[in-house]
Amino acid sequence: MWLNINNSLKSVLLRTITNIFIDIFSLKNERYNGMKVIGIVGSPRKNGNTNTLVQQVLEGAVETGAETRTFLLNEMKYSGCQACDYCKSHEKCKLEDDLAELFEELAEADGVIFGAPIYFGQFSGQMKLFLDRCYSLVNPDLSTRLPCGKKAIIVVAQGMSDSAAYNGVYEEFGGQISRFMGMDVKNTLVVAGYHTPGEVKNDAELMKKAKDAGLNLSK
Ligand SMILES: Cc1cc2nc3c(=O)[nH]c(=O)nc-3n(C[C@H](O)[C@H](O)[C@H](O)COP(=O)(O)O)c2cc1C
Repeated sequence: MWLNINNSLKSVLLRTITNIFIDIFSLKNERYNGMKVIGIVGSPRKNGNTNTLVQQVLEGAVETGAETRTFLLNEMKYSGCQACDYCKSHEKCKLEDDLAELFEELAEADGVIFGAPIYFGQFSGQMKLFLDRCYSLVNPDLSTRLPCGKKAIIVVAQGMSDSAAYNGVYEEFGGQISRFMGMDVKNTLVVAGYHTPGEVKNDAELMKKAKDAGLNLSK
């Protein structure tokens, strides 16, 4: 019977179940401040430096009472933008893949942590593919469909030890999310010079900076 239910009904049912779990969590978290923060991670390494730092930011947000959720793009099934322009005559993307749920969460989130490693001088393909699909969050006049003023933090991991080496990449990314998603980019955290997964944990200063960024996200 489950197989016979169409995709949009499935998505509503899954969402309702998710919200019930979130409500249960919120009741348990006495500090819950009504804030929702999501992490969007574009590294294929779950235990890598990008996700380690994104989780550190989210931990800071949890300490202030926020509810958090992480989307590991590499574990999700989604395609690149098909440039069909369906989203310009409808309010949503025509593709019904794993990004549909992420877009719903993005619309509701107060804070978004975007994390990606640098591959060949750019953000990883997983993040770029996601960003292209964010075209569906933009009106035909290029204004954003998202409520404005969401707080954003960018986390970048790179092998090069010069933390300014890819300034242009994350400044460009920050410009896109602020221009087309109306977000307020509060911090950019750069993990520079590490390759081994999770090695960033040895950088106490950066780990503290990330935790503080999460603690201050709502301010
Ligand atoms: C395919 C690939 C390409 C890479 N290209 C670059 C690069 O252009 N510049 C750089 O500084 N590091 C580069 N790196 C190193 C990663 O950015 C670095 O190891 C980073 O910490 C990985 O993040 P993660 O631990 O979150 O996966 C590359 C790594 C891979 C796997």
